[in-house]
Amino acid sequence: MLDQKINILAIESSCDDTAAAVLTNDKILSNIVATQEVHQQYGGVVPELASRAHQQNIVPVIHQALSKANMDKSQLHAIAFTRGPGLMGSLLVGTSFAKSLSLGLGIPLIEINHMQAHILAHFIDEKEFDKPTFPFLAMTISGGHTQIVKVTSYFTMEVIGQTIDDAVGEAFDKSAKILGLPYPGGPLIDKYSKEGNPKAFPFTRPKVGGLDFSFSGFKTAVLYFIQKQLKEDPQFIEKNLEDICASIQYTIVDILMHKLKKAVKETGIRQVAIGGGVSANSGIRNALQDAEKKYGWKCFIPKFEYTTDNAAMIGIAGYYKFLEKDFADFSATANSRYKI
Ligand code: KG4
Ligand code: ZN
Repeated sequence: MLDQKINILAIESSCDDTAAAVLTNDKILSNIVATQEVHQQYGGVVPELASRAHQQNIVPVIHQALSKANMDKSQLHAIAFTRGPGLMGSLLVGTSFAKSLSLGLGIPLIEINHMQAHILAHFIDEKEFDKPTFPFLAMTISGGHTQIVKVTSYFTMEVIGQTIDDAVGEAFDKSAKILGLPYPGGPLIDKYSKEGNPKAFPFTRPKVGGLDFSFSGFKTAVLYFIQKQLKEDPQFIEKNLEDICASIQYTIVDILMHKLKKAVKETGIRQVAIGGGVSANSGIRNALQDAEKKYGWKCFIPKFEYTTDNAAMIGIAGYYKFLEKDFADFSATANSRYKI
């Protein structure tokens, strides 16, 4: 390995968070995220507004990341950026900025797949956090994706199961919207669940073959259930919010764990890592800790700041690409459907 210290500036702008991080090798010196509040009033991300907010945020966020890391841009060795997947208008802002900066500074450009980065976040050097060894299974659970990935090296990854419709984060957010909670509702469902009975209202599980997932039917089941209950008692949500949230979370976690157990059985791999915004959820975290005791798995749960979108994960993926001298050229374009 290199003796040299590699300084990387990483930029993430795939959805509604404008983020920049500075790393020296696998250590994070700064990790800045500007979350766009503008979308809350619309109950979901508005792509045009996201793109505009990235344009406003990107310069101050990068300045902040460099100054917090106490680093001048002349000390950087490479710029890593999210090429995709994500919203085109959002990705274009980070891509164009990264290209211009790398051209201006005369340093290499590194393109990163956002979903690989959620997985590679486990390799950030953090006290008290073990790193997985290869091969391991990674379940990426976010507002845009739900995948089970077999990871055999830093950049050799195979998707062995995925959602055929909505992502698990959407199942959380859309259920929350039905309950009248603000966007993004996932963290609120998690919060109210803590006071509720997870078995109060049973919801049916979708029947999908293999290691794939489906969440659109679940969201509809929640909608019909709530509509029916409201007809009988207009105060139903207020009276039962904690129990409804706990039941929704219990069912979603059960669906995820069912497929994860199946994946472990089929591959024989018992190291399991999770990543993506929904890996902040207390239900899935507890279920994985139980699985360590019950099934002898070794589970890797990311530090909270590396669960939702961030640039530190783009930076660590960039570091491993830097070691392989896997650089992008200036024809690199944003790719909204970039595959793992
Ligand atoms: O990875 P992420 O920040 O963005 C995407 O790439 O989509 O994930 C955002 C998603 C949202 O759906 C949000 O509701 C969900 O992660 N989320 C949670 C929790 N924290 C974030 N869902 C359930 N429980 C949480 N604690
Ligand atoms: Zn993400």
